Amino acid sequence: MSGTHPRYLWWNGQQVRWEEATVHVTELGWSTVGAVFEGIRAYWNPETGEAYVFRLREHLERLLRSMRLVRLAPRWGIGELTEAILQLLRDNECREDTYIQPVAYRAAGPKTLSGFAEEAGLYIATRPMPSHLLSGKVVRARVSSWRRISDDIMPPRIKNISNYRNGQLAAMEAQLDGYDQAILLNVQGKVAEAPGACLMLVRDGKLVTPDITQSILESITRDTLLRLARDELGLVIEERPVDRTELYVADEVFLCGTAAEITPIGEIDRYPIGDGHPGPVTRALERLYHDIVRGIDPRRAEWRTPVGLATAVGTRPGDD
Ligand SMILES: Cc1ncc(COP(=O)(O)O)c(C=O)c1O
Repeated sequence: MSGTHPRYLWWNGQQVRWEEATVHVTELGWSTVGAVFEGIRAYWNPETGEAYVFRLREHLERLLRSMRLVRLAPRWGIGELTEAILQLLRDNECREDTYIQPVAYRAAGPKTLSGFAEEAGLYIATRPMPSHLLSGKVVRARVSSWRRISDDIMPPRIKNISNYRNGQLAAMEAQLDGYDQAILLNVQGKVAEAPGACLMLVRDGKLVTPDITQSILESITRDTLLRLARDELGLVIEERPVDRTELYVADEVFLCGTAAEITPIGEIDRYPIGDGHPGPVTRALERLYHDIVRGIDPRRAEWRTPVGLATAVGTRPGDD
């Protein structure tokens, strides 16, 4: 880091100094309508002096799927993007919990609706994002008056930047009404997700979550927690449509996502969830997730890509 931003970002195949990565003001607007992105986390482990990128391959695979769906041609493969991210984290000396955001955008063609080109530009930026796992954070949520976009309108299963206008409307409404989080129903009136996270609930010891045809992002954290809950905690999983009122009678409800990690919900529409504090399943999953993402628990090593900070020596490009 230098000042308030990292030294470098990666842009179209090379590392560029932060201040030098600029575009003309007329690029504002249309260029992002067609853009897609990823949100990835690296967790710092002070014991090993190493940071681990969590499920990097799966995030990059989803980025390529998102690009495919919005007809942006792939220019870099998973191997090149993996190397780009690891080098960037090393050169930005990310010895803390870090958020990594690749953004792929339409790099050519008219800035209107008439006609398009498949040529993609791509940048990758990093920024500090401290984990709130095990911090005791609990949020209050409301069911939004906005419905989640459905697959026949815009594809919620990918990280399409335009999708986030829908989530933003719900988030603003919730905040203005004094809540921390919004929960969106889909157009069928079933529970979908929060503006930036998926949702899980616990009923009678079973872990229940909307299936991936309920207008939700194909979330990597959701996949991670379902696997951990089933394989490590032996829980019964139900992936299915979820009614709104199931939220109000649930024993536990929490949000999950790369940025949200595991965020327990203490109250929805003024119905207390359980006793308002994180329940036993949420706490067990949070502990397991915390230990696995940081490499404290050796299980699932295939989900953690070491950045190489433990062995890095000063090799920054252009530094003299
Ligand atoms: C709309 C939405 N749903 C769910 C999630 C969770 O997805 P993931 O676990 O892949 O980060 C996110 C992003 O974090 C999101 O933006």
